[in-house]
Amino acid sequence: MTTLRVAVLGAAGRMGRTVVEAVQGAPGLELVAALDRSDDVGALADTGAQVAVDFTVPSVTEANVTALVRQGIHAVVGTTGWTEESLGRVRAELAGRPEVGVLVAPNFALGAVLAVRFAAMAARWFESAEVVELHHPDKVDAPSGTARHTAEAIARARAAVGLGPMPDATQGADSARGAEVDGVRVHAVRLRGLTAHEEILLGNPGEQLTIRHDSFDRVSFVPGVLHAVRAIGGRPGLTVGLDQLLDLG
Ligand SMILES: NC(=O)c1ccc[n+]([C@@H]2O[C@H](COP(=O)([O-])OP(=O)(O)OC[C@H]3O[C@@H](n4cnc5c(N)ncnc54)[C@H](O)[C@@H]3O)[C@@H](O)[C@H]2O)c1
Repeated sequence: MTTLRVAVLGAAGRMGRTVVEAVQGAPGLELVAALDRSDDVGALADTGAQVAVDFTVPSVTEANVTALVRQGIHAVVGTTGWTEESLGRVRAELAGRPEVGVLVAPNFALGAVLAVRFAAMAARWFESAEVVELHHPDKVDAPSGTARHTAEAIARARAAVGLGPMPDATQGADSARGAEVDGVRVHAVRLRGLTAHEEILLGNPGEQLTIRHDSFDRVSFVPGVLHAVRAIGGRPGLTVGLDQLLDLG
C-alpha cells in the first residue's frame, strides 16, 4: 500500500489535535506536518505533504487553502465561515492548478450528512416536515448551519415535485413556530448537557417518520475526515459538502 503524506493545519486546536491523532493511527496515512498559528503554510511543500487538513479559524482558512493550491497540495477543509464569494475565489485559484482537489465540508459527521440526504429523499412524500436541532448552550449561532442546510434540502425536494406550503397554525405567537428557512420551520433548542443533535420530523395523515442524528463527541468527525483525505486526490477542483464524496447516487 502506498502511503499518503498528510499535514494538519490548526494542529493545536480541538479538532486539529483529534485529526493529528487519527492520522497517526490510520493505515496508509503518514503525518508529515502539524502546523498552528505561527507556522508558515507557504513552505508546506518542503515536508512532502500531499493532502492538508484545515481546522483553523474562519479569518485564515481561505488564505491557507490558496497557499495549498499554489503548492499543488490537496485540501480537506472543515473550518466554517465560507461564503459564495470565498468559494468563488478558490475556484478561480484552482483554474490555474486543475490537478488539485479542495473539499470544503461544513459537517464531517457521516450520520449528520446522511440524515440530510435521507430527509431530502423522504421530503417529497410527506405533507409536513419540520427540523429540530438541539445543541449545548455555548453554540454561538442558531439555528445551526446543518439545520439550515437540511431545511433548504427539504424545500428544494418539495419544490421539485410542486408541493406547496405546509399546513400551519393560523393563530398564536409567531416565535412559537420557530424560524422559517425556505418555508420549512426550524426549531433550535439550547440545553446544558447536550452536544449536537438533529431531528427531522416528516408527517402525513396517520403516520410520522423521524430521522435523528446524535453527535456525542468530536471523534464523530474522524471517519468523514479520513475518508475525505483518502478521496480528495481523485476529485480535482472544488467540492462542497462531504456527501459529494460518499457515492450516494
Ligand atoms: N466541518 C466540521 O465537521 C467541523 C467540526 C468541528 C469544528 N469545525 C470548525 O473547525 C474550526 C476549528 O474548530 P476547533 O474547535 O478545532 O477550534 P479551535 O479554536 O480549538 O482551533 C483552531 C486552531 O487553529 C489555530 N490557528 C489559528 N490561526 C492559524 C493559522 N493561521 N494557521 C494555522 N493554525 C491556525 C489556532 O491556534 C487553534 O489551535 C472552526 O471553524 C469550527 O467551527 C468544523
